[in-house]
Amino acid sequence: MHSAPTWDPQQYLRHSSHRTRPFLDLLARIPELPATAQGRPPRIADLGCGPGNVTALLAERWPDARITGFDLSPEMLEQAKKDHAGTTPGGGWLDFRPADAAHWTPDEPYDLIISNAALQWVPNHPESLPVWTEGLVPGGILAFQVPGNFTSPSHAILGELCESPQWRARLGGHGHRFVHILDAADYLTRLSDLGCTADVWETVYSQLLQGEDPVLDWVKGTALRPVLTVLDGDDEAVAEFLTQYRDLLRKAYPPGPYGTVFPFRRIFAVARKGA
Ligand SMILES: C[S@@+](CC[C@H](N)C(=O)[O-])C[C@H]1O[C@@H](n2cnc3c(N)ncnc32)[C@H](O)[C@@H]1O
Repeated sequence: MHSAPTWDPQQYLRHSSHRTRPFLDLLARIPELPATAQGRPPRIADLGCGPGNVTALLAERWPDARITGFDLSPEMLEQAKKDHAGTTPGGGWLDFRPADAAHWTPDEPYDLIISNAALQWVPNHPESLPVWTEGLVPGGILAFQVPGNFTSPSHAILGELCESPQWRARLGGHGHRFVHILDAADYLTRLSDLGCTADVWETVYSQLLQGEDPVLDWVKGTALRPVLTVLDGDDEAVAEFLTQYRDLLRKAYPPGPYGTVFPFRRIFAVARKGA
């Protein structure tokens, strides 16, 4: 069992436009919430809310909603509170609380439980799906998006480098942490077994990144967090690891005439609880 990585909100937000796009695509498939139909303010939970920028988009869609973002990282929660906590122009509110999604259970009935790009860090999340749907009001929605790119060169190279003779003793296992993501079809079956009407799909985004070593810059905000956490304080080792990883990434993702193409597969699910 590895300890939780430390997060760097500023590094994560450097690619916020590419990272927000899948959230907007997820949001677009979420139907009207039961609360909206009944004229009461919706109650919404965002699991693994990060710096809160996508949580705030929920308040744009449901202006009077009472929305709570939950996250494990003090750094992310601090950023989210600073930038987004408080009452919203539509009369709702946004707040942010510490919670481990691995053990989170709904403390009251929710109209929407949503999670964007976070459940890949929660190994037992498939077992939590019944707990979360149980916590929804009838007709409530469970919606999530998880990366499905763990066999892509960026992750395969990271895994191989961590297992290489030079790094295995310190970093063994840290490059292969996401094997518990299910196939889209498995999520569909599990959510249907729970009595939900489920809409599950995959999208591969052909992301065009700019700048020098943009794929390295991207993974510094996410997949590299466990490695950077283990090597924290050993600047020489960090520099050496990053140089080796960078050189491999340059070969796998050479810059093209318009930038560096970084294909990114993502899995989406929107499930409506049976009445
Ligand atoms: C890639 S970020 C996504 C943040 C945000 N949802 C977004 O879409 O921008 C992943 C987030 O999941 C959080 N996280 C990881 N493991 C978690 C856990 N077990 N419980 C709660 N949050 C967790 C991290 O702290 C981080 O903020």
